[in-house]
Amino acid sequence: MSIRRLPSELVNRIAAGEVVERPASALKELVENALDAGANSVRIRLVAGGVELIEVADDGWGMMPDEMRLALERHATSKLPDDVLDRVTSFGFRGEALPSIASVSALTLESRVRGADGWRIAIDHGAEVGEGPASLPPGTCIRVERLFEKVPARRKFLRSPRAEYAASLDAVRRLAMARSDVSFTLDHDGRRIFSLQPTTPPQRVAELLSAELDRNGIGIDCERHGMGLTGVVSLPTFNRGMADQQYLFVNARPVKDRLLVGALRGAYRDLIAKDRHPIAALFLSVPLEDVDVNVHPAKTEVRFRDPTAVRGLIVGGLRAALDEASQQSATREQAAAPVLWTTSASYDEQLNRVQSQPASQPQWAPSASASIVAEARALFDYAPAGRAEPAIAEVPKYPLGIARGQVSATYIVAEADDGLVIVDQHAAHERLVLERMRAAREGGAIARQPLLMPEVVELEETDCDRIEAAADELAGMGLEVERFGPTSILVRATPAALGKTDVTGLLQDLAAELAEFGSAFSLQEKLDHVAATIACHGSVRAGRVLSVAEMNALLREMEVTPRSGQCNHGRPTWVKLGHAEMEKLFGRR
Ligand SMILES: Nc1ncnc2c1ncn2[C@@H]1O[C@H](COP(=O)(O)OP(=O)(O)O)[C@@H](O)[C@H]1O
Ligand SMILES: [Mg+2]
Repeated sequence: MSIRRLPSELVNRIAAGEVVERPASALKELVENALDAGANSVRIRLVAGGVELIEVADDGWGMMPDEMRLALERHATSKLPDDVLDRVTSFGFRGEALPSIASVSALTLESRVRGADGWRIAIDHGAEVGEGPASLPPGTCIRVERLFEKVPARRKFLRSPRAEYAASLDAVRRLAMARSDVSFTLDHDGRRIFSLQPTTPPQRVAELLSAELDRNGIGIDCERHGMGLTGVVSLPTFNRGMADQQYLFVNARPVKDRLLVGALRGAYRDLIAKDRHPIAALFLSVPLEDVDVNVHPAKTEVRFRDPTAVRGLIVGGLRAALDEASQQSATREQAAAPVLWTTSASYDEQLNRVQSQPASQPQWAPSASASIVAEARALFDYAPAGRAEPAIAEVPKYPLGIARGQVSATYIVAEADDGLVIVDQHAAHERLVLERMRAAREGGAIARQPLLMPEVVELEETDCDRIEAAADELAGMGLEVERFGPTSILVRATPAALGKTDVTGLLQDLAAELAEFGSAFSLQEKLDHVAATIACHGSVRAGRVLSVAEMNALLREMEVTPRSGQCNHGRPTWVKLGHAEMEKLFGRR
């Protein structure tokens, strides 16, 4: 076997494997080039999600014919004039994209420098097939057709035009957010998708993300250790089932970096369920020398000199903003959608059915009071299980009111001086236990409850290892554990805040929690996760009947507990129907 240098065409095709994964990645490279060329306007046309045509036209500084030829050669770039790789401000710097794309498609490159004539070069899967004069306005226009036609392995992996379009749209959105000072138009299959004029970053983000983010988003603007973070994130209650609307930028470069995504996740810990995701557009600015962009051929990942500081800025900055917002939501009226309330129209039907059932019964007694009794009985038969307190004229001024009863042994119904409050008892209590544990931990004193009989819990060996490794931290939270054998753990004490609890279930959940939040997390964050898991175990379950005194105690504690307006999974813990809304329901307004 002899060693040989590969022909450049093959080298390019190999590079294309990394750089041009699908139409969206080719499109991304072309738009980046347009922006690097100083374009004020980028016009994009796609057919079939980019599978049939990708066209990117810009009004940048263009290229002369010999520059065009060079640009199509591998490792030819105009972007590292001083050969310095650690202060890159352009999107491109590897000189790979054009030759790579040209090696796996039919590519037409047209360009014109202001004051000169335009020129065209056509390449078919790496081979030049023609060149000549072209007429176009100053700038560059690149057309990519028949992508992967001669690369069946790649062609096979292309998804439907819909899916390729979604990926392409995502790529354009990211770059359009990165450069709000540039105008962008996008046409797909002959239809105008958007036309964006130059504007400010927040305005551009608003144009490209869900319009509801306006009302459900929190602006971010913070600074630490010479780094800055700006942008917008969604309130925990405004979340999605997919992490597809998270737009992250480092020095205006769109990235899909695990560290940043993890930090975003970390900021929402215990505010949002594990399978839900916030919406975010976050712009991180870091001194150029503190970040390495040459980590990944597609340039979507970066490496930070001080990842802990970056994570700290994001988690800390977002957390502060989220806490402030949730502090407000704890006292702010949450929307109770009146349309969801059953009105008397449907209720009358029920009552009629009751009254007309026993046909042989005598008519309702003529006296008004007797009739009320009869209706009351009918009502009573159909009322859901629950108890009520007698009404009082003067309702004490508590924001969450005083308990009047419980519905389905799950919801507390309370009367406030300004309306009707309904509380989800489990969600609320879970939050209270978590905040109690957190406060106690910060104060350095978590009460523990020794078990009369230490309990042995059987778990998988790796789970036992994780719990054993965290034993000191757990002890700090009142959970005293000891390794008891290869696959068992002895539990000596549990956090007093929990009351009586299912120790086995708790340990299983903790092991899973520790496995998921491995070494990448700070101790503080891990403790928070663990505390949330413990809190969930210690909370009053839905379905437990509460005494009026217990209900009132819960309401009073909620009023003085931070973040009590939402549960550990980002759902509201209570809703209020104000007097005005009630009047509307009854047509009094
Ligand atoms: N739209 C464009 N306008 C002007 N010059 C361009 C354009 N696209 C590419 N070029 C030139 O071609 C070179 C090679 O592009 P590319 O292969 O993407 O590598 P890189 O962007 O990493 O330099 C660029 O450095 C630039 O000089
Ligand atoms: Mg480039």
